[in-house]
Amino acid sequence: MEIKAEQIKQCAGKPQHVAIILDGNGRWAKQRGLPRTMGHSEGVRNVKEIVTASAEAGIRYLTIYAFSKQNWNRPSDEVGTIMSLLSSTAKREINELHRNNVCLRIIGDKNDLPEEARKILEDGEKLTRDNTLMTLVVALSYSSRDEILRAVRAIARDSRDAKTDPEQIDEALFESRLDTAGIPDPDLVIRTSGEFRISNYLLWQSAYAEFYFAKELWPDFHRQEYYHALLDYTKRERRFGKTSEQVSA
Ligand code: IPE
Ligand code: IPE
Ligand code: MG
Repeated sequence: MEIKAEQIKQCAGKPQHVAIILDGNGRWAKQRGLPRTMGHSEGVRNVKEIVTASAEAGIRYLTIYAFSKQNWNRPSDEVGTIMSLLSSTAKREINELHRNNVCLRIIGDKNDLPEEARKILEDGEKLTRDNTLMTLVVALSYSSRDEILRAVRAIARDSRDAKTDPEQIDEALFESRLDTAGIPDPDLVIRTSGEFRISNYLLWQSAYAEFYFAKELWPDFHRQEYYHALLDYTKRERRFGKTSEQVSA
């Protein structure tokens, strides 16, 4: 039976923040005898579908893993195509995000990105910063270990300069130095394409997230497959260390 956006929206137990590891673009193309790059353009089309589906279902934060720091090690023509897809998509879509009251945030090492893409994305972040319907977080040149190390360096610099007392370093202070500062932890992490790994994604932030692994390749993970994952989440019991009796009391 078709799951409607409204059905999820009305659900009190829906996730506030969904983080997705979109995987399987290359295999999607290979299955069709197409170049991998065609899989990436199909993947972009699907990002748009899932962003819309999320906003319509009342999801407040959606984080998409679009390109990892490790992905720079792919063949240079593939990396080049992904970077130009990034620029052209950002150029085309940012105004629409803004019209739809969606706020854009980039996490990852923006300094690694080509100047053109970085400029478009930073302008997009500025343009949309006060939008309130949903926050779309895009992880680009992202590595969770790298993010953690950059935070540690920043805090160590503050301690050296006597701006921070090491004894005062707590979870809140540490989180304020991560790229995701101000964004609540993901409730649900979805990975497509039948792979069961986290690939350096939101390691700190997903400490207590629920995980959902979908067999579909990313370009085939449509609204219905996504809503199925969201409904599955609503049936889980998050205990955060407590007993079932305690959390259901
Ligand atoms: C995900 O699809 C997109 C990126 C990592 C940029 P892949 O390109 O990893 O697709 P597979 O895993 O090779 O099928
Ligand atoms: C993870 O996908 C990174 C992104 C989705 C951007 P990969 O396909 O690069 O992951 P691994 O390296 O196979 O784990
Ligand atoms: Mg992959």
